[in-house]
Amino acid sequence: MRTLVWSEEFSLGHERIDREHHRLIDLAAQIEAKAQIASDVADLIPLCKTFFRQLAAHCFYEEQLLRMLPRVRFGAQVDEHCRGHARLIDQAQLVLKGQLPNGFDDLSAFIDAYFQLMHDLLVDDTELVGVLIREGHHHLSRPSDRPGWLPETGIAAV
Ligand SMILES: [Fe+2]
Ligand SMILES: [Fe+2]
Repeated sequence: MRTLVWSEEFSLGHERIDREHHRLIDLAAQIEAKAQIASDVADLIPLCKTFFRQLAAHCFYEEQLLRMLPRVRFGAQVDEHCRGHARLIDQAQLVLKGQLPNGFDDLSAFIDAYFQLMHDLLVDDTELVGVLIREGHHHLSRPSDRPGWLPETGIAAV
């Protein structure tokens, strides 16, 4: 089983995003360690509650930032990225009900696939959030300053 570990390659120079990524990776490592000795997916529920709460809040915040990117250049990539967020959230919700997502009957295989997807999304974050920082859009501004588009999926801005 592969373990996600925080490394400087994930550091983007955005204080809140970096802090949340670091915390999510630490929690993922704890979940992976627990999964190696767990007899049932239900054993992961306490740790997953904390992980889920932080993941959902992080994705909501990050998606607001990603909507600042020019739609014509980054719309398709941001939409795909937000679908990845939604998949992580949906699967974590199933685990909180004591279930494994369809296609997985083995906890270890599911955990491997889940954290591989999380790793791939983190790599994608380094590109997308990196562009935001270079282009100076990395602080949330007034709603009236934001470009008027929403991804196909994801959580609506408030
Ligand atoms: Fe992301
Ligand atoms: Fe992220």
